[in-house]
Amino acid sequence: MTAFPRQRPRRLRSTPALRRLVAETSLEPRHLVLPMFVADGITDARPIPSMPGVFQHTRDSLRAAAADAVTAGVGGLMLFGVPVEADKDSTGAAGIDRDGILNIALRELAADLGDATVLMADTCLDEFTDHGHCGVLDDRGRVDNDATVDRYVELAVAQADSGAHVVSPSGMMDGQVAAIRDGLDAAGHSDVVILAYAAKFASAFYGPFRDAVASGLQGDRRSYQQEPGNAREALREVALDLAEGADIVMVKPAMSYLDVIAAAADLSPVPVAAYQVSGEYAMIAAAGANGWIDGRAAALESLIGIRRAGADIVLSYWAADAAGWLA
Ligand code: PBG
Repeated sequence: MTAFPRQRPRRLRSTPALRRLVAETSLEPRHLVLPMFVADGITDARPIPSMPGVFQHTRDSLRAAAADAVTAGVGGLMLFGVPVEADKDSTGAAGIDRDGILNIALRELAADLGDATVLMADTCLDEFTDHGHCGVLDDRGRVDNDATVDRYVELAVAQADSGAHVVSPSGMMDGQVAAIRDGLDAAGHSDVVILAYAAKFASAFYGPFRDAVASGLQGDRRSYQQEPGNAREALREVALDLAEGADIVMVKPAMSYLDVIAAAADLSPVPVAAYQVSGEYAMIAAAGANGWIDGRAAALESLIGIRRAGADIVLSYWAADAAGWLA
């Protein structure tokens, strides 16, 4: 830097206290949201092989793990339900059923935790459909946008009735946010927040998640999730969700889309979330388990990188662990 010949940047790195004083980005437990899976029909928490340290929970083990995460200081919990195979059908009715696993678990966590945390629910059909798509299919087997949006409204209202503070439409249907806002308001849930998966890419990094929810998906989601190369389109999706009333917008996955997070943060007047997805977790966990990298350091570095890119909120399977490491 010839313009500033007397600058010696290393001076500001010479002690831990100096480095702390000039740190530009913070990573605190409150920034982190823990995604959790609760499964019907199991008697013990079941480890997910491709996500070491992550479990399909029973209702009881979920309650215990959720309480621990809240004690560790995480900012919120994002709940996914895994019904038994026999309860899956073509329209995902088990997601809307007030006695379905996700709604029961929401009621139990809401009763246990009250307003001590932010309780979020995944508002999507793929966990509940026998074909594994995020929507209902038309007679040619294509995902029917508007019929799916109608189901999302029912899902969102059921989740809000069950105690969710935040509903999180993740299916990338056009018009889903506006329809859910109208449906929540009409049902007396005008205070329930919509966290919109605004820019969700068709990603190979969701692989372990599909194990986690025992998804039967054949084929892919490219007719509704975005092509990985499309940044301008992602910003159009963000703008549409803002216009439709999204309270928080999310980019997903995180690590391969840091430029999209940064651009979304530049334009968004509402908080921006990013989802460090199952495959991102699996990669770092696997390399760490092999001793090829320092897993904990790499996890924390990945999280602060996502914050530096501009995410206010980071969903991560490390949320509770990281909250402990940061304490
Ligand atoms: C859809 C949904 C998915 C994830 C979150 N919500 C799966 C998909 O789109 O295939 C992926 C999360 C992860 O990989 O950690 N309900």
